[in-house]
Amino acid sequence: MNELERLRQNLGSIDEQIADLLTERMDCISRIMTYKKEQGLPVLQPEQEVRQTMNLLKRVDGSVFEEEILDIFHYITKNSKKIQAKNLFHENIMLIGFMGAGKSTVSSYLSKMLALEVVEMDQLITEKEGMPITQIFSEYGEAYFRNCETNTLIELQKYNRLVVSCGGGAALRQENVDIMKKNGRIVLLTATPEAILERVKDSDERPLLNGNMNVSFIKELMEKRKDKYYAAADIVIDTTNRTIYNICEELIGRLSKS
Ligand code: S3P
Repeated sequence: MNELERLRQNLGSIDEQIADLLTERMDCISRIMTYKKEQGLPVLQPEQEVRQTMNLLKRVDGSVFEEEILDIFHYITKNSKKIQAKNLFHENIMLIGFMGAGKSTVSSYLSKMLALEVVEMDQLITEKEGMPITQIFSEYGEAYFRNCETNTLIELQKYNRLVVSCGGGAALRQENVDIMKKNGRIVLLTATPEAILERVKDSDERPLLNGNMNVSFIKELMEKRKDKYYAAADIVIDTTNRTIYNICEELIGRLSKS
C-alpha cells in the first residue's frame, strides 16, 4: 500500500468514528431533553451553552485548525438545537397579538435558541409586494393588505415547526384563524398599553399608529380587538416587564405540555 492509499484509509476510518460519535452526541441531546421534560426543568439554558462554548474554545485554542473546527461545531450545535425542537413541537408556532406585544422579539429568540425557522409575515408581504406596509396601505388600502395576510397564511400552511410572527391584525379575521389552527398552535402575546407605547413609539412603520402614538388610542384599539385575540389563542402570555428568556421558557413549557 502506498502512502496515499494509507492516508485515505486512515481518513475513512476517522470519518466512521466521527459519524459514530455524532450519533452518540445526538442521542445524548435527545436524552437530555427527555430528562428536562420529565423533571420539569427549564428547556432553554443559555448559561450552559456559554459554558460549552468556553470549554470548546479552550480545547481548540492554538490548534492550526481552530477556525475550521469552530465552524463545524457551529453546525453541530445548530443541529442539536433542531433535535431539541423536534422533541418539543411538531406544528407551527403562530405568534399573534397587538403591535409591539413582542412577536418579533420572541420569534428571533426562539430561532436563536432552538434553531427554528422564523417567518415575519409583514416582511414576506413587503418583499412580495415590493413596497413597505405603509405604502401598501396608502396605495391599495387596508382591505388589500388584509387579503395579502390571508394569502400569506395559506402559503405557510405547508410548513412545519416554523415560528410565524403574524402581523397584529392577522388574527382578527376568522378565516385567518382557521388557517392558522390547521397546522399551528396560536400563542397570544399581551402587554399593557403603556409598555406597548414604549416599544413602538420610535417607529413610523405602522400605518395604524402613525399620528396616534398615545396610550389612549392604543388602549382603545386593544380593547376593540381583545375578544378576537383571546378567542383565537391556544395560550396567552403576558410580556410586560419580563425578560425574553422568561417569556420563551413559559411559552415552550406550556406548548410542549398541552
Ligand atoms: C397591524 C400590525 C402590523 C402590520 C400592520 C397592521 C395591525 O404588524 O401588520 O401595520 O393591524 O395591528 P406588527 O404587529 O408586527 O407591528
